[in-house]
Amino acid sequence: MKQIKKITCIGAGYVGGPTMAVIAQKNPNVEVTVVDLNQARIAAWNDENLENLPVYEPGLDAVVGEARGRNLFFSTEVDKAINEADMIFISVNTPTKTYGKGKGQAADLKFIELCARQIAAVAKEDKIVVEKSTLPVRTAEALKNILENTGNGVNFHILSNPEFLAEGTAVTDLHNPDRVLIGGEDEAAIEALVQVYEAWVPRERILTTNLWSSELSKLVANAFLAQRVSSINAISELCEVTGANVDEVARAIGQDSRIGPKFLKASVGFGGSCFQKDILNLVYIARSYNLTSVADYWEQVILMNDHQKTRFAEKIIQTMYNTVNGKHIAFLGWAFKKDTNDTRESAAIYVADHLLDEEAQVVVYDPKVPAEQIYKDLDYLGTRSPENNRRLVKVVDNPYEALDGAHAAAVLTEWDEFKGYDWAKIKEGMKRPSFVFDGRKLLDRKELNRLGFAYYAIGE
Ligand code: NAD
Ligand code: UGA
Repeated sequence: MKQIKKITCIGAGYVGGPTMAVIAQKNPNVEVTVVDLNQARIAAWNDENLENLPVYEPGLDAVVGEARGRNLFFSTEVDKAINEADMIFISVNTPTKTYGKGKGQAADLKFIELCARQIAAVAKEDKIVVEKSTLPVRTAEALKNILENTGNGVNFHILSNPEFLAEGTAVTDLHNPDRVLIGGEDEAAIEALVQVYEAWVPRERILTTNLWSSELSKLVANAFLAQRVSSINAISELCEVTGANVDEVARAIGQDSRIGPKFLKASVGFGGSCFQKDILNLVYIARSYNLTSVADYWEQVILMNDHQKTRFAEKIIQTMYNTVNGKHIAFLGWAFKKDTNDTRESAAIYVADHLLDEEAQVVVYDPKVPAEQIYKDLDYLGTRSPENNRRLVKVVDNPYEALDGAHAAAVLTEWDEFKGYDWAKIKEGMKRPSFVFDGRKLLDRKELNRLGFAYYAIGE
């Protein structure tokens, strides 16, 4: 079995950066180089000030600080890094297609294919190529085809090694994974990757399967997780009309060890770069095999999530006497969950868009998301002109400023700091009645009612 000495990872994003940082931290004798076409991103990974890393994750600065310059490198020299590596991870983005066949559902594999062609063109010695990106089942077949037919006659072994980290807890998830999954055909190649992980992950938690099971398991894991959120969100609506409390229901069912307590937190809707994309992809694959019932079943998870976001926005409008025109609504949070600066598919974007259609004045505060990102997210929807987005939305870096003079506060992300605010002081500065719409069930109902707020939470 070949001992891996040099690893290259193509793609220095939310997955490539943290994953390789931990691999380098735990394997000081392996040289790990992370490459990307995006020069600004690489410059940020190399920034001396660890607060400027392009990905915000608790604990990541310490890991990068330990390994960077020792055996962890960030570079834009993609060809050189490919050429030197024994093992190449592909960790580029695989967004939903926005054009052509499968538009709006299928995964866009153009970045993956470009990587494969580049590896094939550059490699002069045998390589193990590892799919780290989330891919449709049977992508490895296409990769193998490209590598073998466009290369320099060297041998490529393809492995699937999907990533299960969640943002906001990436470092702890990587340090202590429930499992590492490796799919492949070649025993020696599988064993080489097992050894990399065995530096810190107990062997019994490293699962090996065939390629297709590994590729498919990643999509299925995300589909099951998202399905739990949509299931509890569906129940949240039922709780609101029946007087049940969704947190109490979640606790009651979660104590059944067959159901389990995790991922049962009702919310304004799941976001993030992957749940929707991966389920759409699963639906597309099922449809492409004519499995209509299977496709319809999983599609419902997305439809329920869309419904939850719309429902939250409509609840705000309806409660505020059916008009929010010109009303100041303070958004607490824009990221798709706490402890990340990532806003991809965040529920906040869609709730804001709905309220802006009604000419609300939205003032956003998020502890980690900069103003440019918020405007970019809204402009990307194309619902109104960039000028109108800037006319209707203000972004501030002080929560008390966001809430001062507001008709309503809406909690979109469950940042811990929101709980510790001086809500008595906030109440003084807000218009009356002072509405709070809690899309995360984060705040203390009793306390807010005592202070005189009109408090509404999902699922109560
Ligand atoms: P990302 O967009 O943050 O990063 C991808 C990077 O790849 C970008 O910086 C881009 O510039 C770079 N890139 C694209 N094509 C390239 C090329 N040809 N050469 C060099 N660099 C190139 O994406 P991400 O969130 O890190 O996700 C990557 C993959 O991992 C996706 O398939 C995603 O589904 C999967 N995944 C993501 C998460 C997550 O939490 N974000 C978790 C598990 C799996
Ligand atoms: C998710 C999975 O948890 C990871 O295992 C997977 O690797 C990753 O997707 C991926 O493939 O990208 P992530 O999206 O980072 O991770 O974060 P989650 O903690 O799963 O949260 C996703 C969304 O669901 C967030 O908007 C969160 O607020 C919401 N959520 C989660 C709820 O509304 N309720 C819950 O009980 C749990």
